[in-house]
Amino acid sequence: MRSSTIRTALAAVLATGVAAAAADAAPRKVMPDREYYGVSRMAPLTDKAGDPVNGKVVVRTKGLCLSCHTAPIPEEPDHGDVAPDLAGVGSRLQPPELRMRIADPKVVFPDTIMPSFLKKQGLNRVAAAWEGQTILTPQEIEDVVAYLSTLK
Ligand code: HEC
Repeated sequence: MRSSTIRTALAAVLATGVAAAAADAAPRKVMPDREYYGVSRMAPLTDKAGDPVNGKVVVRTKGLCLSCHTAPIPEEPDHGDVAPDLAGVGSRLQPPELRMRIADPKVVFPDTIMPSFLKKQGLNRVAAAWEGQTILTPQEIEDVVAYLSTLK
């Protein structure tokens, strides 16, 4: 394939990915001025800055992140070991990259076992009580992003 053809094909694939992700993310509807930066990065979901203290609480409780991830939270006894250690993740990834990986990790890792915390369509076997709902709210995701950004 000539490189211009490859470029055209790649652009089409990227555009499809962005459209699919955009269709799933609730904030696109309530905040149409917010746009994705790209396939692996996501713009802020709310106007309120994330609260790292609450983000840590969400990671330990509602997010169940420690069932899969290890993190520098020694006060929590059992950490999972099926996912990358979150220690230093704030140095490896910028906030728009962290946000995308939490909101809809399948955009970045298509076969991942990590749940899409801001997705409510296109899911399999959702319990009736959870239908039409996201696991975390946009503000909770902002809080988690703020907390992970402190892990340098
Ligand atoms: C069911 C297991 C599971 C849960 C629960 C889970 N994750 Fe993950 N996560 C993974 C796996 C596995 C990966 C690595 C991507 C892959 O290869 O699938 C990952 C990747 C990530 C990454 C990218 C890490 C890097 O270094 O590239 C971040 C950030 C992340 N998860 C944050 C979270 C946060 C925050 C939560 C809770 C809100 C969470 N995860 C909950 C399994 C999980």
